[in-house]
Amino acid sequence: MRAKCPLMKGTEMQVSEGMRRFEGKNAIVSGAASGIGRATALRLAAEGARVLCVDIDESGATSTANEAANQYDANATAAALNVADAAACKRTIDAAVEQFGTLDVLCNIAGIGVYGDSSQLAIEDWDRLIAVNLSGTFYMSQAAIPHLLASHGNIVNMASAAGLVGTAYAAGYAASKGGVVLLTRSLAVEFGRKGIRVNCVCPGGVDTPLSHSVTFPDDLDEKLLHRMQLVDRLARPEEIAAMIAYVASDEAKYVNGAALSIDGGQVA
Ligand SMILES: NC(=O)c1ccc[n+]([C@@H]2O[C@H](COP(=O)([O-])OP(=O)(O)OC[C@H]3O[C@@H](n4cnc5c(N)ncnc54)[C@H](O)[C@@H]3O)[C@@H](O)[C@H]2O)c1
Repeated sequence: MRAKCPLMKGTEMQVSEGMRRFEGKNAIVSGAASGIGRATALRLAAEGARVLCVDIDESGATSTANEAANQYDANATAAALNVADAAACKRTIDAAVEQFGTLDVLCNIAGIGVYGDSSQLAIEDWDRLIAVNLSGTFYMSQAAIPHLLASHGNIVNMASAAGLVGTAYAAGYAASKGGVVLLTRSLAVEFGRKGIRVNCVCPGGVDTPLSHSVTFPDDLDEKLLHRMQLVDRLARPEEIAAMIAYVASDEAKYVNGAALSIDGGQVA
Protein backbone atom coordinates (compact mmCIF):
# COMPACT_ATOMS: atom_id res chain seq x y z
CA MET A 1 0.00 0.00 0.00
CA ARG A 2 1.28 3.43 -0.87
CA ALA A 3 1.85 5.84 2.00
CA LYS A 4 -0.29 8.97 1.93
CA CYS A 5 1.51 12.15 1.10
CA PRO A 6 2.23 13.77 4.49
CA LEU A 7 0.92 17.05 3.09
CA MET A 8 -2.56 15.49 2.72
CA LYS A 9 -3.43 15.72 6.40
CA GLY A 10 -5.66 18.52 7.62
CA THR A 11 -6.81 19.68 4.19
CA GLU A 12 -10.48 20.07 4.97
CA MET A 13 -11.60 23.36 3.52
CA GLN A 14 -13.49 26.01 5.41
CA VAL A 15 -15.64 28.14 3.16
CA SER A 16 -17.33 31.05 4.84
CA GLU A 17 -20.95 31.78 4.15
CA GLY A 18 -22.01 35.28 3.23
CA MET A 19 -19.68 38.20 3.81
CA ARG A 20 -19.48 38.25 7.63
CA ARG A 21 -16.06 36.66 7.73
CA PHE A 22 -14.92 38.62 10.80
CA GLU A 23 -17.87 38.00 13.11
CA GLY A 24 -16.43 37.66 16.63
CA LYS A 25 -12.93 38.68 15.47
CA ASN A 26 -10.85 41.54 16.80
CA ALA A 27 -8.73 43.60 14.42
CA ILE A 28 -6.28 46.48 14.57
CA VAL A 29 -5.76 48.59 11.45
CA SER A 30 -2.96 51.16 11.23
CA GLY A 31 -3.21 54.08 8.82
CA ALA A 32 -6.96 53.95 9.38
CA ALA A 33 -7.51 57.70 9.06
CA SER A 34 -7.23 57.81 5.28
CA GLY A 35 -7.09 55.95 1.98
CA ILE A 36 -6.50 52.20 2.02
CA GLY A 37 -6.32 51.94 5.82
CA ARG A 38 -9.65 53.69 6.18
CA ALA A 39 -11.25 51.47 3.51
CA THR A 40 -9.80 48.38 5.24
CA ALA A 41 -11.11 49.35 8.67
CA LEU A 42 -14.58 49.96 7.17
CA ARG A 43 -14.52 46.67 5.24
CA LEU A 44 -13.54 44.61 8.29
CA ALA A 45 -16.19 46.41 10.36
CA ALA A 46 -18.80 45.80 7.65
CA GLU A 47 -17.97 42.10 7.87
CA GLY A 48 -18.49 41.96 11.63
CA ALA A 49 -15.06 42.69 13.13
CA ARG A 50 -14.47 44.75 16.22
CA VAL A 51 -11.89 47.25 14.97
CA LEU A 52 -9.35 49.52 16.61
CA CYS A 53 -8.42 52.25 14.12
CA VAL A 54 -4.95 53.65 14.80
CA ASP A 55 -3.20 56.50 13.04
CA ILE A 56 -0.86 59.39 13.74
CA ASP A 57 -3.89 61.48 12.67
CA GLU A 58 -6.13 60.86 15.67
CA SER A 59 -9.10 62.86 14.43
CA GLY A 60 -9.05 61.02 11.08
CA ALA A 61 -8.91 57.66 12.86
CA THR A 62 -11.81 58.73 15.08
CA SER A 63 -13.85 59.75 12.09
CA THR A 64 -13.26 56.32 10.47
CA ALA A 65 -14.28 54.59 13.71
CA ASN A 66 -17.43 56.74 13.92
CA GLU A 67 -18.28 55.93 10.33
CA ALA A 68 -17.83 52.20 10.98
CA ALA A 69 -20.09 52.45 14.03
CA ASN A 70 -22.77 54.53 12.28
CA GLN A 71 -22.77 52.76 8.94
CA TYR A 72 -22.25 49.15 10.02
CA ASP A 73 -23.28 49.21 13.66
CA ALA A 74 -19.74 48.02 14.35
CA ASN A 75 -17.82 48.10 17.60
CA ALA A 76 -15.09 50.48 16.42
CA THR A 77 -12.75 52.71 18.39
CA ALA A 78 -9.73 54.86 17.60
CA ALA A 79 -6.34 55.67 19.10
CA ALA A 80 -3.49 57.99 18.20
CA LEU A 81 -0.33 56.08 17.30
CA ASN A 82 2.95 56.85 15.60
CA VAL A 83 4.00 53.43 14.25
CA ALA A 84 7.63 54.58 14.15
CA ASP A 85 7.60 54.57 17.98
CA ALA A 86 8.27 50.96 19.04
CA ALA A 87 7.25 51.44 22.68
CA ALA A 88 4.00 53.14 21.66
CA CYS A 89 3.17 50.26 19.28
CA LYS A 90 3.58 47.74 22.10
CA ARG A 91 1.57 49.85 24.56
CA THR A 92 -1.26 50.32 22.06
CA ILE A 93 -1.46 46.66 21.06
CA ASP A 94 -1.23 45.37 24.63
CA ALA A 95 -3.93 47.82 25.75
CA ALA A 96 -6.20 46.80 22.87
CA VAL A 97 -5.83 43.11 23.69
CA GLU A 98 -6.46 43.85 27.35
CA GLN A 99 -9.78 45.36 26.25
CA PHE A 100 -10.64 42.96 23.38
CA GLY A 101 -9.54 39.72 25.06
CA THR A 102 -7.84 38.52 21.87
CA LEU A 103 -6.27 39.84 18.69
CA ASP A 104 -7.15 38.02 15.47
CA VAL A 105 -6.05 40.35 12.67
CA LEU A 106 -3.38 43.05 12.42
CA CYS A 107 -3.36 45.16 9.25
CA ASN A 108 -0.22 47.29 8.97
CA ILE A 109 -1.34 49.85 6.40
CA ALA A 110 0.19 53.12 7.68
CA GLY A 111 2.80 54.48 5.34
CA ILE A 112 4.35 57.52 3.72
CA GLY A 113 5.79 58.25 0.30
CA VAL A 114 8.68 60.48 -0.76
CA TYR A 115 9.56 60.65 -4.45
CA GLY A 116 12.00 62.48 -6.68
CA ASP A 117 15.55 62.25 -7.96
CA SER A 118 16.99 59.53 -5.70
CA SER A 119 20.46 61.09 -5.84
CA GLN A 120 18.95 64.11 -4.08
CA LEU A 121 16.81 62.25 -1.52
CA ALA A 122 17.34 63.97 1.83
CA ILE A 123 18.83 61.68 4.48
CA GLU A 124 15.98 62.68 6.84
CA ASP A 125 13.46 61.50 4.23
CA TRP A 126 15.30 58.18 3.77
CA ASP A 127 15.28 57.71 7.56
CA ARG A 128 11.58 58.60 7.78
CA LEU A 129 10.61 56.20 4.98
CA ILE A 130 12.42 53.32 6.66
CA ALA A 131 11.17 54.29 10.14
CA VAL A 132 7.48 54.47 9.21
CA ASN A 133 7.10 51.97 6.38
CA LEU A 134 9.53 49.25 7.43
CA SER A 135 10.38 49.65 11.12
CA GLY A 136 6.76 50.59 11.92
CA THR A 137 5.54 47.39 10.28
CA PHE A 138 8.08 45.39 12.29
CA TYR A 139 7.29 47.11 15.61
CA MET A 140 3.57 46.48 15.21
CA SER A 141 4.11 42.87 14.13
CA GLN A 142 6.53 42.11 16.94
CA ALA A 143 4.14 43.52 19.53
CA ALA A 144 1.25 41.53 18.06
CA ILE A 145 2.97 38.15 17.73
CA PRO A 146 2.49 36.94 21.34
CA HIS A 147 -1.25 37.67 21.03
CA LEU A 148 -1.53 36.14 17.55
CA LEU A 149 0.19 32.97 18.79
CA ALA A 150 -2.64 32.64 21.29
CA SER A 151 -5.41 33.27 18.73
CA HIS A 152 -3.77 31.70 15.63
CA GLY A 153 -4.40 35.04 14.00
CA ASN A 154 -2.74 36.73 11.08
CA ILE A 155 -0.96 39.85 9.86
CA VAL A 156 -1.53 41.66 6.57
CA ASN A 157 1.22 44.11 5.69
CA MET A 158 1.09 46.86 3.10
CA ALA A 159 3.89 46.57 0.57
CA SER A 160 3.64 47.93 -2.97
CA ALA A 161 4.38 47.16 -6.61
CA ALA A 162 7.42 49.31 -5.81
CA GLY A 163 8.47 46.61 -3.33
CA LEU A 164 8.64 44.02 -6.11
CA VAL A 165 10.36 45.78 -9.02
CA GLY A 166 12.84 48.61 -9.37
CA THR A 167 11.05 51.97 -9.38
CA ALA A 168 12.65 55.15 -10.66
CA TYR A 169 12.40 58.26 -8.50
CA ALA A 170 11.41 56.14 -5.50
CA ALA A 171 14.57 54.40 -4.23
CA GLY A 172 13.82 55.05 -0.54
CA TYR A 173 10.13 54.18 -0.82
CA ALA A 174 10.86 51.05 -2.89
CA ALA A 175 13.58 49.92 -0.48
CA SER A 176 11.20 50.30 2.46
CA LYS A 177 8.49 48.29 0.67
CA GLY A 178 10.93 45.64 -0.56
CA GLY A 179 11.90 45.31 3.09
CA VAL A 180 8.24 44.81 4.00
CA VAL A 181 8.00 41.96 1.46
CA LEU A 182 10.97 40.10 3.01
CA LEU A 183 9.87 40.94 6.56
CA THR A 184 6.51 39.38 5.66
CA ARG A 185 8.01 36.25 4.15
CA SER A 186 10.49 35.80 7.01
CA LEU A 187 7.82 36.09 9.73
CA ALA A 188 5.61 33.71 7.72
CA VAL A 189 8.36 31.09 7.63
CA GLU A 190 9.23 31.54 11.30
CA PHE A 191 5.68 31.52 12.68
CA GLY A 192 3.63 29.61 10.09
CA ARG A 193 3.94 26.28 11.87
CA LYS A 194 2.95 27.98 15.12
CA GLY A 195 -0.35 29.05 13.58
CA ILE A 196 0.29 32.64 12.50
CA ARG A 197 -0.08 33.64 8.84
CA VAL A 198 1.75 36.73 7.57
CA ASN A 199 1.07 38.11 4.09
CA CYS A 200 1.43 41.37 2.26
CA VAL A 201 -0.46 43.16 -0.46
CA CYS A 202 1.32 44.95 -3.31
CA PRO A 203 -0.87 47.57 -4.99
CA GLY A 204 0.09 49.68 -7.97
CA GLY A 205 -1.34 53.19 -8.05
CA VAL A 206 -4.32 53.75 -5.75
CA ASP A 207 -6.54 56.81 -5.67
CA THR A 208 -5.59 58.22 -2.24
CA PRO A 209 -3.98 61.40 -0.88
CA LEU A 210 -0.61 59.59 -0.93
CA SER A 211 -0.62 58.95 -4.69
CA HIS A 212 -1.86 62.50 -5.33
CA SER A 213 1.17 63.82 -3.42
CA VAL A 214 3.64 62.15 -5.82
CA THR A 215 5.87 64.65 -7.60
CA PHE A 216 8.54 63.88 -10.18
CA PRO A 217 11.73 65.77 -11.03
CA ASP A 218 11.51 68.50 -13.68
CA ASP A 219 13.82 66.48 -15.94
CA LEU A 220 11.62 63.38 -15.62
CA ASP A 221 12.48 60.60 -18.09
CA GLU A 222 9.05 59.10 -18.83
CA LYS A 223 10.61 55.95 -20.32
CA LEU A 224 11.65 54.97 -16.80
CA LEU A 225 7.99 54.83 -15.78
CA HIS A 226 6.94 52.60 -18.69
CA ARG A 227 5.24 50.00 -16.46
CA MET A 228 2.65 52.59 -15.47
CA GLN A 229 1.52 52.78 -19.10
CA LEU A 230 0.22 49.20 -18.82
CA VAL A 231 -2.73 50.38 -16.73
CA ASP A 232 -5.23 53.11 -17.50
CA ARG A 233 -6.62 53.94 -14.07
CA LEU A 234 -5.79 54.06 -10.41
CA ALA A 235 -7.34 51.42 -8.14
CA ARG A 236 -10.01 52.46 -5.66
CA PRO A 237 -8.98 51.99 -1.99
CA GLU A 238 -12.00 49.68 -1.60
CA GLU A 239 -10.56 47.31 -4.22
CA ILE A 240 -7.37 46.97 -2.17
CA ALA A 241 -9.39 46.59 1.06
CA ALA A 242 -11.29 43.70 -0.53
CA MET A 243 -8.02 41.82 -1.12
CA ILE A 244 -6.80 42.60 2.40
CA ALA A 245 -10.09 41.31 3.84
CA TYR A 246 -9.80 38.11 1.81
CA VAL A 247 -6.25 37.39 2.89
CA ALA A 248 -7.05 38.21 6.54
CA SER A 249 -10.06 35.89 6.51
CA ASP A 250 -10.27 32.14 7.10
CA GLU A 251 -10.93 31.70 3.37
CA ALA A 252 -7.21 32.35 2.93
CA LYS A 253 -6.09 29.83 5.58
CA TYR A 254 -3.63 28.30 3.11
CA VAL A 255 -2.17 31.65 2.02
CA ASN A 256 1.01 32.35 3.97
CA GLY A 257 4.11 34.38 3.14
CA ALA A 258 2.50 35.69 -0.03
CA ALA A 259 3.11 39.06 -1.69
CA LEU A 260 -0.19 39.51 -3.48
CA SER A 261 -0.12 41.87 -6.45
CA ILE A 262 -3.14 44.06 -7.12
CA ASP A 263 -1.96 46.48 -9.76
CA GLY A 264 -3.89 45.88 -12.99
CA GLY A 265 -0.94 43.91 -14.34
CA GLN A 266 1.68 46.60 -13.84
CA VAL A 267 4.42 44.23 -12.67
CA ALA A 268 3.25 41.16 -14.59
N1 LIG B 1 -1.76 55.07 -2.87
C1 LIG B 1 -0.98 54.24 -3.56
O1 LIG B 1 -0.84 54.40 -4.80
C2 LIG B 1 -0.28 53.11 -2.87
C3 LIG B 1 0.27 52.09 -3.64
C4 LIG B 1 0.93 51.04 -3.03
C5 LIG B 1 1.04 51.00 -1.65
N2 LIG B 1 0.50 52.02 -0.91
C6 LIG B 1 0.64 51.95 0.54
O2 LIG B 1 -0.63 51.92 1.14
C7 LIG B 1 -0.54 52.41 2.46
C8 LIG B 1 -1.65 53.41 2.68
O3 LIG B 1 -1.42 54.53 1.87
P1 LIG B 1 -2.60 55.37 1.21
O4 LIG B 1 -2.33 55.39 -0.22
O5 LIG B 1 -3.89 54.92 1.74
O6 LIG B 1 -2.17 56.82 1.76
P2 LIG B 1 -2.87 57.83 2.75
O7 LIG B 1 -1.92 58.96 2.86
O8 LIG B 1 -4.27 58.08 2.32
O9 LIG B 1 -2.92 57.02 4.13
C9 LIG B 1 -1.77 56.78 4.89
C10 LIG B 1 -2.18 56.87 6.37
O10 LIG B 1 -1.02 56.51 7.15
C11 LIG B 1 -0.98 57.42 8.24
N3 LIG B 1 0.39 57.52 8.76
C12 LIG B 1 1.46 58.11 8.15
N4 LIG B 1 2.52 58.04 8.96
C13 LIG B 1 2.12 57.40 10.10
C14 LIG B 1 2.76 57.05 11.30
N5 LIG B 1 4.05 57.35 11.52
N6 LIG B 1 2.07 56.37 12.24
C15 LIG B 1 0.76 56.08 12.03
N7 LIG B 1 0.08 56.43 10.94
C16 LIG B 1 0.76 57.07 9.97
C17 LIG B 1 -1.46 58.74 7.67
O11 LIG B 1 -1.85 59.64 8.67
C18 LIG B 1 -2.59 58.27 6.77
O12 LIG B 1 -3.82 58.24 7.47
C19 LIG B 1 0.87 52.99 2.59
O13 LIG B 1 1.68 52.05 3.29
C20 LIG B 1 1.33 53.14 1.17
O14 LIG B 1 2.71 53.09 1.05
C21 LIG B 1 -0.17 53.06 -1.49
